[in-house]
Amino acid sequence: MNEYKFAHRVENIEESGVRKIFNIRKGVSDVVDFSLGQPSFDVPDKIKNATCNAINNGFNKYTLTQGLPEFREKLLAKLEKKYNKKIEDIIITGGASACLFFALMVLVDEGDEVIIPDPYFVLYKPVVKIFGGRPVLVDTYPDFRLRGDKLKKAISPRTKILIFNNPVNPTGVEYSASEVKIITDIARRHNLILISDEVYEEFVYDFQFESAFPLYENTILINSFSKTYGMPGWRLGYACGPKEIIKKMLTLQQFSFVCAPTPLQKGCISALSTDVKDLISQYKKKRDIIYDGLKDVFEVVRPQGTFYIFPKVPWGKDQEFVKEAIKNKVLVVSGGTFSERNTHFRISFATDDDTLERGIKILKKLAKKKI
Ligand SMILES: Cc1ncc(COP(=O)(O)O)c(C=O)c1O
Repeated sequence: MNEYKFAHRVENIEESGVRKIFNIRKGVSDVVDFSLGQPSFDVPDKIKNATCNAINNGFNKYTLTQGLPEFREKLLAKLEKKYNKKIEDIIITGGASACLFFALMVLVDEGDEVIIPDPYFVLYKPVVKIFGGRPVLVDTYPDFRLRGDKLKKAISPRTKILIFNNPVNPTGVEYSASEVKIITDIARRHNLILISDEVYEEFVYDFQFESAFPLYENTILINSFSKTYGMPGWRLGYACGPKEIIKKMLTLQQFSFVCAPTPLQKGCISALSTDVKDLISQYKKKRDIIYDGLKDVFEVVRPQGTFYIFPKVPWGKDQEFVKEAIKNKVLVVSGGTFSERNTHFRISFATDDDTLERGIKILKKLAKKKI
């Protein structure tokens, strides 16, 4: 076998723990799959049909790098109305992942510090490191809420960015309006760039979602069509914010992925007028089923948003418990995939109610079985 000399920047980057589980799933039948970070519903027919029509009508060439003009303009108008503010610029990309990648690539220099609340979405830490930055993790256990005092303590003269995910993958925390205000005020006082990852904004169950975007001018809002419209495989997302930053991201897209897929951009114009409230409202019941099912046996925080719940393992380390769960055909992801701690595990409750009940039963049995 060849021994390749890899670039220093990727030497210590490992495969995502979520992908590992995804690979285990192949070839195992009759599993309770609690591992997936995607909604269980399919793309609404109206959007599918519009996209097929786009292909049949010749929307198969490149678009402008910043996005198909009609899509971009309509999206921008919708967002300006929603946030009641003039948006400086917007770029349409291959999902929120591409936005995060570009935003960090244009901003992070060797040694720059990027604050990331822990637990965190899997992409943040490796991508900061790829660009030579230093991830500064702020522990938010046991209730998983980033508090002002802890945030302030983590800020140093090298701090450049705060990555703020709300609602949070993997914990299901949704921040209240006053919490978001505290965090944006601190970001302003310390002149940080706030990357606000709001891909789960529609998946909220107890109170209205509060975006950081209109509260602080140095915010890059990152959002996606993946979760809201059940289309993670379509790879469509967007970033908006300060025009100088978006322009630099655009240049990178020019020299990498060129543009987001054209027929999907055309088809997703119809997504902008598609109401998905009914699809998402089913997730509140799923949240209740999983939380009520686990709370008496597991130490667990009730999620207010997303489709994840993050219980503490009842015994052993996260990987031991997860291994045992997988042996019993319940696929969950160990907490260490999203955290510096090895004490919890993530369940995605984006599945049908029967599967939820089946999984809860098995997990409860495993919790009582000390090994
Ligand atoms: C918090 C968070 N941000 C971003 C993404 C990436 O989404 P996309 O499919 O748009 O790349 C995910 C996907 O799981 C996520 O959980």
